[in-house]
Amino acid sequence: MKHFLDIHTTPQDELRGIIDDGIAMKNARNGRPKGALDDDLPLKDHMVALIFEKPSTRTRISFDVGVRQMGGQTMVLSGTDMQLGHGETIADTARVLSRYVDLIMIRTFEEQTLLDMAEYASVPVINGLTNRTHPCQIMADIMTFEEHNGPIKGKKVVWSGDGNNVFASFAHAAKQFDFELVFTGPPPLDPEPALQGLYTIERDPNAAVAGADLVVTDTWVSMHDPQSARERRHNQLRGYQVNEALMAKAKDDALFMHCLPAHREDEATSAVMDGPRSVIFDEAENRLHAQKAIMRHCLGR
Ligand code: CP
Ligand code: NVA
Repeated sequence: MKHFLDIHTTPQDELRGIIDDGIAMKNARNGRPKGALDDDLPLKDHMVALIFEKPSTRTRISFDVGVRQMGGQTMVLSGTDMQLGHGETIADTARVLSRYVDLIMIRTFEEQTLLDMAEYASVPVINGLTNRTHPCQIMADIMTFEEHNGPIKGKKVVWSGDGNNVFASFAHAAKQFDFELVFTGPPPLDPEPALQGLYTIERDPNAAVAGADLVVTDTWVSMHDPQSARERRHNQLRGYQVNEALMAKAKDDALFMHCLPAHREDEATSAVMDGPRSVIFDEAENRLHAQKAIMRHCLGR
């Protein structure tokens, strides 16, 4: 059994295997109804715990549907409803859960919660987002890019906006999948220092996107950010909105991505989000397929 905690801690060949498996599993479903079982049922008789300490639409539903398509069962748990949210240690929770379930997916605030869960669980643990990273999202994003525009190796990816948790997983992916990553945003919202060396900075968004194969953005205020920062961040980030004028500077076949949920007309305009280069709903769909491949990988199937 293997955990899936982050992109930089998963070997390159395993990451490539997950992407290829996700595409193969997607194609094998061949348009059958969402509730229909796959031909192959690697999670038959398996119970999966999905723990959320933060809200979620995509992660919650895509994991739940994915487990069921592979023959397993799920329980969706809110962190605040568990003793975990009332002082029970992560270590004790991990050891107890391991007696009941075959796999744990957790979305949490502190990265240490995820790491403790992985250390003390005797079943695989998957990172469904922390304040620092969001690896499942970026696996779906790599899959989406490659479905549309071929291998991502050697391509230029530009991130415009806040240097947040989703950016961090893109930075890890840039090294593992060998693509160029440029960050454009204001200095106060630079990515965390640990990521230095994985990307370059270009403060001018127009210069940054020149020749880009992919332009990516995300919300300006993440779930772990204080709401009191909203106005300040809007003022800092206004010049980094992804709009049609900015997309026009990228390559003609450049794609646009956003992990969603979006604040339309803030980080990106609806003209871009609903425009011909946007693949935002393919990204959302591919969460399902990529995560099914991640779960198979974790269980060694
Ligand atoms: N992109 C993403 O993780 O969305 P949710 O917060 O809805 O799960
Ligand atoms: N950066 C966002 C991503 C949400 C999927 C957040 O952490 O809130």
